[in-house]
Amino acid sequence: MKTFIENLPKAELHLHIEGSFEPELMFKIAKRNKIEIPYNSVEEIEEAYKFNCLQDFLDIYYQGAGVLITEQDFYDLTYSYLEKCATQNVRHTEIMFDPQTHTERGISFKTVINGISKACDDAKEKLGVSSLLIMSYLRHLSEEDAFKTLEQSIPYKDKIKAVGLDSSEKGNPPSKFKNVYEASIKVGYIPLAHAGEEGPAEYVWEAIDILDIKRIDHGNNSLQDKNLVNELVKRDIALTVCPLSNTALQVVDNLKNHPLKKMLDLGLKVTVNSDDPAYFGGQVNKNYIEIQKALDLSKFEIYTLAKNSFQYSLLENSKKQQYLNELELYYTNNK
Ligand code: ADE
Ligand code: ZN
Repeated sequence: MKTFIENLPKAELHLHIEGSFEPELMFKIAKRNKIEIPYNSVEEIEEAYKFNCLQDFLDIYYQGAGVLITEQDFYDLTYSYLEKCATQNVRHTEIMFDPQTHTERGISFKTVINGISKACDDAKEKLGVSSLLIMSYLRHLSEEDAFKTLEQSIPYKDKIKAVGLDSSEKGNPPSKFKNVYEASIKVGYIPLAHAGEEGPAEYVWEAIDILDIKRIDHGNNSLQDKNLVNELVKRDIALTVCPLSNTALQVVDNLKNHPLKKMLDLGLKVTVNSDDPAYFGGQVNKNYIEIQKALDLSKFEIYTLAKNSFQYSLLENSKKQQYLNELELYYTNNK
């Protein structure tokens, strides 16, 4: 089963590039930018990465992102993640980035987007991994601030496929961003959002009804509301589920109690993703391997998860079909 998962062609649809920042690279970039970080070793970092909730993690995540200064830093961060995709048979990835985490510190939007998108272009050519970018608004900041980010993105809109909504969920409902989502859709961005990770099912309703979102990041708490589950199935809205993130942030107490299998059985379109792999103990393949073991998923269920990852990607149909054909062939030869 492990080899079956490792060699399985797949897409990753929920990945924060700032959350892929491995300790070794963080030390290297901090040193070259002459920035002090409050850790002396990888062991000290690992000790600090113990979280009781989303906010515990976010505090450390924003601190880590603070060492990224130059276009080269953003390039190295992104290319390093894309190299990991190539070794895991991740054929396509949809990368979230948080411009406000950097523009708030005086780093220009241009520096961030150029570093990330150059790495994506190089990875397509050299590693054969395709990618799309999701510009995420920080929900603990104001809608006005999100509007500023939207404006800054306009000269680079051809490099951006979608908008997302992340950071502290509780107390920051999707409805807070109604106007900026309407404006983002007018620019041509596809609306996506985190919802129902720590927040209630009501936030998922708001995301689909008020922001018109096309794919939910996490969505675990949707299961609290039967009507919502039916609606997600009816509207064919997929969930980008992140098992190791959920246990690291205590959204789920134990992988054996993870709702992923229940979600599949209810007819929800589920995908498996790593969220912030450098902080949560594993890349996407580890997420597949651990959740398969915990819930005793069959090869067919694993294949279904990979199929959903291509089916509910933001790729154009012909490219989607190409990846789906590759997956089909793999499954036929390896089931
Ligand atoms: N930013 C990075 N990871 C996140 C998560 N899991 N939830 C909300 N915001 C995030
Ligand atoms: Zn996330």
